[in-house]
Amino acid sequence: MAKLKVGVLISGRGSNMAALIEAARSPGYPAEIAVVISNVATAGGLETARQAGIPAVAIPHKGYPDRESFDRAVSAELERHGVGLVALAGFLRIQSPWFPAHWKDRILNIHPSLLPSFPGLHVQQQALDAGVRLSGCTVHFVTAELDAGPIVAQAAVPVLPGDDADRLAARILRQEHRLYPEVVRWFAEGRLRVDGQRVAVEGLPAGATLLFSPEP
Ligand code: GRF
Repeated sequence: MAKLKVGVLISGRGSNMAALIEAARSPGYPAEIAVVISNVATAGGLETARQAGIPAVAIPHKGYPDRESFDRAVSAELERHGVGLVALAGFLRIQSPWFPAHWKDRILNIHPSLLPSFPGLHVQQQALDAGVRLSGCTVHFVTAELDAGPIVAQAAVPVLPGDDADRLAARILRQEHRLYPEVVRWFAEGRLRVDGQRVAVEGLPAGATLLFSPEP
């Protein structure tokens, strides 16, 4: 069967992008990374993608008069590569409502908190300031409202005494790299059904789980 083509949008180092590329290398994986696009020309992830032999394109947002015209340019590039799923991975650009409407139910994001707690930026510091004992990451469908679309899956990690934002971010990031490729696999296998704010994952194979718990 033809593999699903995924377009990954980044703005920085692209470690989640790299995790997706790595997962897609295994022969049985049902998706391939067709293109990586960054709004920041110097994003380290572009070079990582090129080294992996994946088309990597910079589309600097400064060249566009408004958000929607930038979004339409990104969209045209994704479509040129036959993309069927957009994966935001550290893409630090607020999109116009046009983009999630155009890619409705075909666009995912990964966020480093257990949403709906702590949307937005400086997420780990928000978690530390709130004193939570548990944090983690969330993969969700993208809607016009920031970090608020239907949740597909989450992974939890403990917040430990002595954590600062960097230590917590590193612990969460290890789980992001497990979770995102798994959710993209489910999408590619046609298992995800969006029903309002809720997502059903149909027919998980034996051994697969929706519960990614804290590491011991
Ligand atoms: C990750 O923590 C992701 O959850 C958030 O931005 C960060 C991107 O990191 N959206 P990377 O570029 O994937 O390394």
